[in-house]
Amino acid sequence: MTARFPLTRLRRPRAHDWSRRMMRETILTPDDLIWPIFICEGKAVRQPIGSMPGVERLSVDLAVVAAKEAASLGIPCLALFPSTPKDKRDERGDEALNRDNLINTAMRAIKDAVPEIGLLADVALDPYTSHGQDGLVEDGVILNDETVGVLVQQAVVQAEAGADIIAPSDMMDGRIGAIRTELDKAGFQHVQIMAYAAKYASAFYGPFREAVGSDGVLKGDKKTYQMDPANRLEAIREVAMDIAEGADSVMIKPGMPYLDIIREVKDRFGMPTYAYQVSGEYAMLMAAVQNGWLDGDKAILEAMLAFKRAGADGVLTYFAPRVAKLLND
Ligand code: PBG
Repeated sequence: MTARFPLTRLRRPRAHDWSRRMMRETILTPDDLIWPIFICEGKAVRQPIGSMPGVERLSVDLAVVAAKEAASLGIPCLALFPSTPKDKRDERGDEALNRDNLINTAMRAIKDAVPEIGLLADVALDPYTSHGQDGLVEDGVILNDETVGVLVQQAVVQAEAGADIIAPSDMMDGRIGAIRTELDKAGFQHVQIMAYAAKYASAFYGPFREAVGSDGVLKGDKKTYQMDPANRLEAIREVAMDIAEGADSVMIKPGMPYLDIIREVKDRFGMPTYAYQVSGEYAMLMAAVQNGWLDGDKAILEAMLAFKRAGADGVLTYFAPRVAKLLND
């Protein structure tokens, strides 16, 4: 009497490395990476960020060195964030419009030294406001249309400084269309827009706020403009709206807790879709790695793969250079 064995054995193709490689559905390359870096004032300055072990704020000269490293690793694009000193922050975030602010200075320097790398500039007022909110505030209310009026100027100033991608992270309504119109009017038809289309009011941004110096200053929360983590259908509406207004690509943020949203957005719209593995995700992984609880290289690569498997075309990640090195080895 013969036992009944399965005809189909899914373990068969898993038995050898060559076969696993041959049948792999998802492939990671350095082309999938956007590396966010933090810029601070000074020269030859590196400031460690307590809640993001291994990440440092860099003065502009060192940001140029980082850009060279990124280019040599095959990373296509950097995202720049400023750590604006408190004395340059005010109620309206005017420093955002200063053509010589940290971000614009860094973009010019990087474009000069490493013209082949793409530069993504974040549009929002929080690194520049004394209250840490992304927009203008009146009587405790974040003003939408008035804020958009400032954001369009911020975007044009960034395009003038060499931004290749304008990435509005502010979540005001109507800002993508307004920015597209203003960029085109100013002669920047070629500058792309990556919309932080579905950006949630998340607890996972904590370490970022330390990195840009908004941690002590932020009053209240961002729930009146960033999305409720409970909502899925609303994310579809946000993305549809940004595409209709002219976004070239869309982003979901945070990353790993929101893989369902990435999958749904990719399936629904077929747009270039990016995931932001945010500062809190970085901090969680690093904390476990530093405790010896996780194998860092393996866990980080698995997380990257998960983003791509979920439908992301690329990932904004603080691990970008580490991942690129692992992939290049
Ligand atoms: C600012 C902005 C934030 C992040 C990117 N752009 C913080 C926030 O919305 O409070 C978070 C990135 C991260 O946590 O890594 N608008």
